[in-house]
Amino acid sequence: MKERNRYIVMQSNLTIIPINTNNHEFSNYSYIILDECSSTCVIIDPAWEKEKYETIIALKEIKNVEAIILTHSHIDHINLADYFSKKYKVNIYLSKEEVEHYNVSLDKIATLQNGEIIKINNMNIYSYLLPGHTKGSMCYQIENNVFTGDTLFNEGCGYCTDYIGGTIDMYNSLQFIKQNFDLQTKIYPGHVYLYDVGQSLDDILQYNMSLMMDQQSFTTYQSRIKKLR
Ligand SMILES: [Fe+2]
Repeated sequence: MKERNRYIVMQSNLTIIPINTNNHEFSNYSYIILDECSSTCVIIDPAWEKEKYETIIALKEIKNVEAIILTHSHIDHINLADYFSKKYKVNIYLSKEEVEHYNVSLDKIATLQNGEIIKINNMNIYSYLLPGHTKGSMCYQIENNVFTGDTLFNEGCGYCTDYIGGTIDMYNSLQFIKQNFDLQTKIYPGHVYLYDVGQSLDDILQYNMSLMMDQQSFTTYQSRIKKLR
């Protein structure tokens, strides 16, 4: 998919800047959330191609990166976490479950519990523990935008096979998103396949099979995918 430059400005002078970075088979989406009032930002899931982030930081005259926020601990979502944490001397936030289950080893970890709010300048970042892709996967909400990592994609969901109970957890996590977020919520996943980032939940519900299935169908489908992997 061709990368496009599109900044999404929120009501409160926060701007979402999607960044597509690549490394061999990986193609990831991470996000700079810029607070225009304080000229500061946070970065969600920084990985690969650090010059892409640094170009935007310079271009937008961002004075400081205030936090690194991770949806989960897979390498394609954390590859630059230590780099930016050391450079700006800031915390790396991810869930306590993720750190403990996978013995995550990063430099300045600050662990989160389900429901915790990270408050940074004008930003309130709500954390939701939504396991399935990994034991401690988190999604983050800023206003009516949700950053879903590898839990929810526009076109489906992340794989859920690396720990016992992962498939049921994923089903429950998807149901949580479906039932608790406003239909106008914009979804920002860690990978895209057919549709661009920032689709509304309402739109995604029209074509995302993982959100349509009942639990039995979902677990059967996932077990078939597992055999193909
Ligand atoms: Fe992942």
